[in-house]
Amino acid sequence: MYSSKIVVFLVSLILVQVVWTSRVGVPVYVMLPLNTLSNGGDLTDVQLLQSQLSQLKSQTGIEGVMSDVWWGIVETQPQVYNWTGYEALFNVIQQNELKVKVTMSFHECGGNVGDDCAITLPQWVLNVGQSNPNIFYTDQQGNRDQEYLSLGVDDQPLFGGRTPIEIYSDYMASFYENFKDLIPSVIQEIQVGLGPAGEMRYPSYQSSLWTFPGIGEFQCYDKYMLANLAQAAEDAGNSDWGYAGPDDAGTYDSTPSQTGFFSQGTQDNYQSPYGQFFLNWYSGLLLEHGNKTLAEAKKVFGSSGVTVTAKVAGIHWWYLDPSHAAELAAGYKNDLGVAYYQIAQMFSWHNVSFDFTCLEMRDSEQPSNCECGPQQLVAQTLLSAESAGVKYSGENALQRYDSTAYQEIEIESSLYYLISGFSYLRLTPQLLQSPNIGTFASFVQTMSTLQGPN
Ligand SMILES: *[C@@H]1O[C@H](CO)[C@@H](O)[C@H](O)[C@H]1NC(C)=O
Ligand SMILES: *[C@@H]1O[C@H](CO)[C@@H](O)[C@H](O)[C@H]1NC(C)=O
Ligand SMILES: *[C@@H]1O[C@H](CO)[C@@H](O)[C@H](O)[C@H]1NC(C)=O
Repeated sequence: MYSSKIVVFLVSLILVQVVWTSRVGVPVYVMLPLNTLSNGGDLTDVQLLQSQLSQLKSQTGIEGVMSDVWWGIVETQPQVYNWTGYEALFNVIQQNELKVKVTMSFHECGGNVGDDCAITLPQWVLNVGQSNPNIFYTDQQGNRDQEYLSLGVDDQPLFGGRTPIEIYSDYMASFYENFKDLIPSVIQEIQVGLGPAGEMRYPSYQSSLWTFPGIGEFQCYDKYMLANLAQAAEDAGNSDWGYAGPDDAGTYDSTPSQTGFFSQGTQDNYQSPYGQFFLNWYSGLLLEHGNKTLAEAKKVFGSSGVTVTAKVAGIHWWYLDPSHAAELAAGYKNDLGVAYYQIAQMFSWHNVSFDFTCLEMRDSEQPSNCECGPQQLVAQTLLSAESAGVKYSGENALQRYDSTAYQEIEIESSLYYLISGFSYLRLTPQLLQSPNIGTFASFVQTMSTLQGPN
């Protein structure tokens, strides 16, 4: 009697096994240039784009492209959204039988590695900042960063009565309303920008103030974050901890050992009760910011069948230093080795995929004075996403055309399991030239035949 049930059970187990192990290949996408749309919202050069996409489609096996959808271009007046340029863009993409992943880019373009563009936050947002500069992330010297609104104002109705979380939500809802016919058939993925460069992090290493491999600085000195810190310290029964960030955490270009806070065995360092209190507070607020924004994204896109992702930055310098100083300043509390698991767990709450970068980097390519560990870092994030049960997609951090970089990406993409997608940074005229285009085409081909390790 029940032996037939057992047989059915075993057969279905085998089927699940076959389906599970037979997934082959990692689809590759190519990031479009940052200035694909002009600041006025038109396609910058439609003929050029058309010919580039047609060449990519015919000469490589890419699945699609990836594009920013800039807040500063679309919402030039509060709650007036102009999607015309993106309609034109998605048309060209569709004509070439390609798919697209989009990023809800609530950050400024310009001022980060590789930024050949200048798209600020909308002027009506900057205007609020003129009279109230505390809406921007601020460092200990008082520098304000206009790349992205401070999470300190997430729930403050300072923008014509709306809060930033409401503003992000309205923007995503308008995008969905306008493009729902293309979701998820053409628009396959929505990446939700959660910070500068579209990454869930603090702007701790702004290129105007910092040089690689400095540890960066904490960004908790706008009045809203300071008020939150004071409250948290009081709640922890230690108001003395709530006046400011650590006073001996160095400056942007310091090394860990030049500071008290990131050194071993020093008083009130990162390992002390004070240090742990501060770091839990700082990283916890970032998690909360992601959690709130992703909850809004899921309200908008949750039933559409589209994949929602969020990007985590690849802070690989000082990864091998016990303090993980650069990660701590960016909001990743990895001194105890669990930062990316906590983030992935928060993503899993919303069924959001983990997008990570620097898959092309080898430890041996890094200078010896930065305790860099990109390969260990990528490995940690892969395992964290897997333990939390969220999907993982990858990107390269720096522009590369050589097969050494591609080989490393191939290895990382199937290290523990097959990742779900890879976005190549970035479409340039050089990529389309010989021999680069051929090398890239072989890479896409190899990616399409990858299998998981078992
Ligand atoms: C929307 O943007 C386009 C540029 O892409 C412009 O030509 C058009 O006038 C704008 N529409 C409105 C209503 O502002
Ligand atoms: C999670 O998202 C994927 C798309 O990435 C979707 O196919 C799946 O149904 C979602 N799962 C749940 C439980 O909502
Ligand atoms: C995320 O938000 C939900 C409520 O929407 C809460 O239950 C959960 O604990 C939060 N997770 C984190 C990591 O903040």
